[in-house]
Amino acid sequence: MKTLIISGTNRLNSNTLKVSKYYQKILAEKQYETEIISLTDLPDNLSVTDLYGKRSEAFSGILKKVNAADKFIFVIPEYNGSFPGILKLFIDACDFPDSFYEKKAALVGLSSGKYGNIRGIDHFTGVCNYMHLNVMPLKIHLTYINKDLNELGHFITEDSIKFINQQIDKFIKF
Ligand SMILES: Cc1cc2nc3c(=O)[nH]c(=O)nc-3n(C[C@H](O)[C@H](O)[C@H](O)COP(=O)(O)O)c2cc1C
Repeated sequence: MKTLIISGTNRLNSNTLKVSKYYQKILAEKQYETEIISLTDLPDNLSVTDLYGKRSEAFSGILKKVNAADKFIFVIPEYNGSFPGILKLFIDACDFPDSFYEKKAALVGLSSGKYGNIRGIDHFTGVCNYMHLNVMPLKIHLTYINKDLNELGHFITEDSIKFINQQIDKFIKF
């Protein structure tokens, strides 16, 4: 059983990567091993080198990890009312249908605003459904993220800690 946490933006110093690391830490405390793939690690010219049947050396290492995984946690920031374009590019660059087919995913939305990427998580759920990637029903929406993380990348509000913990416990059994 191999689980990847996909940090769903290539923005440097993102809250998404901080949240991804928080998930990894809590999972590790529960003896559940994960690896993070940050979209900051994607080759810069992915749209030229890895779409429509092309495959680059630079991306094949990441793709190999994706194809070997059977469970995913996607941590997804809200960009203009949806999920980031780079995340769709990443999905489109992976193998269809093999990379995600009949695998399992939990989704985590976050935003600096008050919606926690509800729409983006819905939009991404539609993409997952298309790929037969089974989405865990409990999704988490982290709002006002700039105020909810301290300098260590830990959550401040009790509700965030509680709901993340619930989602993680369900994910381990999913
Ligand atoms: C291109 C872009 C679009 C954004 N659009 C929204 C938005 O629609 N709603 C919102 O609440 N925050 C929006 N934000 C702010 C992000 O929610 C905020 O940066 C948050 O920290 C999560 O993104 P991060 O992982 O890039 O830090 C946007 C940020 C970027 C870079």
